[in-house]
Amino acid sequence: MKDTLDQHRVAAEPWYKPQGDEVALFTAAWTARMPVMLKGPTGCGKTRFVEHMAWALGRPLVTIACNEDMTASDLVGRFLLDAEGTRWQDGPLTFAARHGAICYLDEVVEARQDTTVAIHPLTDDRRALPLEKKGELLRAHADFLLVISYNPGYQSLMKDLKQSTKQRFGALDFTWPEPGIEAEIVAHESGVEAGTAGRLVEIGTRARNLKGHGLDEGLSTRMLIHAGRLIAGGVAPRAACSMALVRPITDDPDMRDALDAAVATWF
Ligand SMILES: Nc1ncnc2c1ncn2[C@@H]1O[C@H](COP(=O)(O)OP(=O)(O)O)[C@@H](O)[C@H]1O
Ligand SMILES: [Mg+2]
Repeated sequence: MKDTLDQHRVAAEPWYKPQGDEVALFTAAWTARMPVMLKGPTGCGKTRFVEHMAWALGRPLVTIACNEDMTASDLVGRFLLDAEGTRWQDGPLTFAARHGAICYLDEVVEARQDTTVAIHPLTDDRRALPLEKKGELLRAHADFLLVISYNPGYQSLMKDLKQSTKQRFGALDFTWPEPGIEAEIVAHESGVEAGTAGRLVEIGTRARNLKGHGLDEGLSTRMLIHAGRLIAGGVAPRAACSMALVRPITDDPDMRDALDAAVATWF
């Protein structure tokens, strides 16, 4: 069992540039064992932040990418048939609760609500997980912490977290870093020099102003890093921006023209 837990250890420090007081607040939530919700658009640093915090707190990290086909059994566990007969296999949520890992449910709204309620008993004061099929009431390890991510931009009435789920968590808002910080992140992660990183961030800022005027979602830090990596690898900046920034985010010809024009201002 120890070996499998070791697979979830974060061995080297994941580089993370804080945007504000999120490191201190997450640490306080951890000390209080308060479940945490990370809110913000895709590609703004939520996953990197959790990896960094797991490393900083010395806890293993179990990450679960949520999707609508996921069942409560996928989270909690099930009986498997093998040569010796039936054998219980902990799901990732149970594994994390049993061994005191940080469990990160990424994009939790993608999961169906009947799956999401499986986390409720772990977020009560009881911190317990009933394994009904197995007839076990698992008490969570003292170091267990539940973290979820949530992109408020995607929510529709059909697909949202219930209040009874939301109200179990403390929340941290993530947004695009301010330009100086974002340029530092882009430079560090892609290998371009500071001037190029700064120009990429200017393009990102312009493009984010188009959100709601034809773009559904702002251009992410992740996309700026992609463009930077192409440039660092020798691709001409305009071609790199077209491939990494403009083409993925929109198919609308007018919007592409507007974004290409923004790119041409800086490169
Ligand atoms: N504050 C930050 N510090 C370090 N890297 C960051 C930060 N914000 C974003 N990144 C970079 O952007 C990439 C995408 O961020 P990620 O954490 O995967 O986004 P999210 O989980 O919010 O979708 C990361 O792999 C990392 O390279
Ligand atoms: Mg993520």
